[in-house]
Amino acid sequence: MKIAVASDHAGFDLKSKIVAFLEEKGIAYRDFGSGPGQTVDYVDYGVMAMDSVVSGECDRAILFCGTGIGMAVVANKYKGIRATPCWNPFTAQVSRSHNDSNCLTLGGRTLSFEEAVEIVRTWLETPFEGGRHQRRVAKILEVERKNFKP
Ligand code: RB5
Repeated sequence: MKIAVASDHAGFDLKSKIVAFLEEKGIAYRDFGSGPGQTVDYVDYGVMAMDSVVSGECDRAILFCGTGIGMAVVANKYKGIRATPCWNPFTAQVSRSHNDSNCLTLGGRTLSFEEAVEIVRTWLETPFEGGRHQRRVAKILEVERKNFKP
């Protein structure tokens, strides 16, 4: 599995630490920026990462901004993306097992590294449960089909 990662300035420090964690675990990733000392718009970096997911270059994404909210709003504009801001291991677990999250968003101003790394670990390790949750995800896809222009 290859993970797209991106941040704005408010998520940069947390992104750097999570990237080090991915490297330590041998998990493939591509970092779309931003870099140190830049002040940027989270939208631009979220777009680069999510383009790589919808093109198939990356399988999932982990995006960082101040709160995780702006990045989630951007990512959820993409067809087929279920981006979930998570704030503890339980929300990370359920975002995968129930919502089949394919984009985790995290807040550099709301989470410590210790909290974030447990969220990332849980999100990466938890499978989608399927069953009744597959029916619900299928309904989300139907909402998308009706509302996204080709
Ligand atoms: C940047 O100051 C901040 O607005 C951004 O990182 C994020 O929190 C937006 O959702």
